[in-house]
Order: sequence, then C-alpha cells, then structure tokens
Amino acid sequence: MAGQLEDRAAIVTGGASGIGRATCLLFAREGAAIVVADVQDGAGEETAARIRGEGGRAKFVHTDTSDEAQVVDLVREASAAFGRLDAMVTAAGVSYAPGLGDDAGDPFQRPAAWLIVNKATERWRRVLDVNLTGVMLCAREAARQMIAEGHGGTIVTVASTAAYVPNASIADYCVAKAGVVMLTKCLAAELGQHGIRANGVAPGPIETGMTRDLIERGVFQQQAARLPLGRIGGADEVAQAILFLSGPQSRFVTGKTLGVDGGTYTI
Ligand SMILES: NC(=O)c1ccc[n+]([C@@H]2O[C@H](COP(=O)([O-])OP(=O)(O)OC[C@H]3O[C@@H](n4cnc5c(N)ncnc54)[C@H](O)[C@@H]3O)[C@@H](O)[C@H]2O)c1
Repeated sequence: MAGQLEDRAAIVTGGASGIGRATCLLFAREGAAIVVADVQDGAGEETAARIRGEGGRAKFVHTDTSDEAQVVDLVREASAAFGRLDAMVTAAGVSYAPGLGDDAGDPFQRPAAWLIVNKATERWRRVLDVNLTGVMLCAREAARQMIAEGHGGTIVTVASTAAYVPNASIADYCVAKAGVVMLTKCLAAELGQHGIRANGVAPGPIETGMTRDLIERGVFQQQAARLPLGRIGGADEVAQAILFLSGPQSRFVTGKTLGVDGGTYTI
C-alpha cells in the first residue's frame, strides 16, 4: 500500500532529536524523501542513516535555522538532492539560550534569574531568533521554492502550549511560540493562492531531549498528572499530528494550530 507521502520530499528542521527526529522517521515510512536539518551533526547524520537503513531516502544538511544564508542553502540543497520540495516542518527550537550574557543556568532550576526584570537582552534575542525568526526564514524559503516548482505544498510549524499561557521565567519562549501561531495564520492567508497550506502543532509536555531534565526531576510528571489524559506524551504522537497536517487527509485545513497536549486547556 502506498504511503501518505509517496514521491514527496520534505525538510524537517530539528531532525536530530525529539519531535523532529520522530517526524523524519514517520515521514520516511510514509514514502517521503527527507532532508534532516539541524545544528547537531552526529545526531542529524544518525537520523538520516536510520532512514536509509530502513530503505528510505534521506540526507543531512547542517543548518542553523536562525541564519538566513544557511536556510537558503538548505532549501537549495534539498531541492538538488531530491528534485522537489513538498513539505517543510519547522521543529528546531530551544527552550532557553544557555551560555549567553548573565548565564545563570537552566531557568527551570533558577527561575528568578530569568524573570523579565533580570533577563539579558542577548538571551531574549537568541530565543526569538531561533524560535520565531528561524521559523519565518524556513517557511519563507520553502514557500519560494514551492511557488517556483508550481505544485503547492505544506508547511507545519511547531509551537507550544506556552503560546497561550504565560510561564514566568521563560517569557521569551512564550512570546516566540505565540508569534509562531500568528505567523502560521499569516502564512496560510498569503500562500493559499499558491496551493500551499500552513498549519501548526502546539505540543504539551512531551518526552524529548529538551525535557529530559524536567522529567528526571519529576516536574513534568506533576504537570501531566493534571491533564485529562494524565500523562506525558511521546514525540511520535506529535509526529502523527504533523503527518496529518502535511498529508492529503487535511487538504481543506490551513492556518490552524492543533494542540497535541493531552487536553491541556480542557480543564
Ligand atoms: N518537548 C516538549 O515538551 C515540547 C513542548 C512544546 C513544544 N516543543 C517544541 O517542539 C520542538 C522540538 O523540540 P523537542 O522537544 O523535540 O526538543 P529537542 O531538544 O529534542 O529537539 C530540538 C532540536 O532542535 C535543534 N536545534 C536547536 N536550535 C537549532 C537551530 N538554531 N538550528 C537548527 N536546529 C536547532 C536541536 O539541535 C535539537 O535537535 C521545539 O520547537 C520545541 O520548542 C516541545
């Protein structure tokens, strides 16, 4: 039986880990050729190698998605490798910007140092650069390529439940993710005429590299226990929603951000 993405080609940013990697593997099993984009070379190559090991087509391209020139190169390389681009998934993201300015470590360990009144401007900028401007750059370059190819396509962004609820000490993250939700609507409004749909997912607590420390310290389990579904989600569960939004089953859906969150805001 043919996969949902047979003969398609996709770029997945953040494909070295977590939600991005799960999306790469799922898309490849559905027939897509995958370009894995990430700043982590070893893990990114590993994702691509796993896909090829399963008989799929995949290539890793080192990309810092906040760097315009690198994103332009990424789309060019993807198109050259597989002859077309049908889908862009923007899963690359950071929860905070370590190693910059008044580095006080993990905001979840020392929240006071990360309040807006204490936040270093360069740290704020870095989170916005990766989590919002980087998403715009990837969406823009993908859209330009899809328009040039003339066959339409899909863009799926990865926001967060943090887009909707303030979280003291990670205002930069919350604001960036809220921006991603609006960016997704704007992309849909502008690109529909080209047959390009833009949607997003807003994950709740998901077990990935980004949240390993929170899970080890039991913080996420406490949050998850209050959800209607009462548990932390898996990266593959988010990937399934991204597949739906990238595939033919959602062909009349655009501009929407789907919560994949165990029911975070239903109670
Ligand atoms: N895990 C969760 O609970 C959760 C919840 C809501 C939203 N999200 C979002 O999901 C997305 C994926 O995160 P994850 O949980 O899989 O985390 P992760 O840390 O496992 O994966 C993120 C990936 O993005 C890559 N990355 C970071 N900065 C980059 C850059 N500038 N250029 C290219 N790649 C870069 C990292 O190297 C990593 O491979 C992120 O946007 C995150 O904000 C995660």
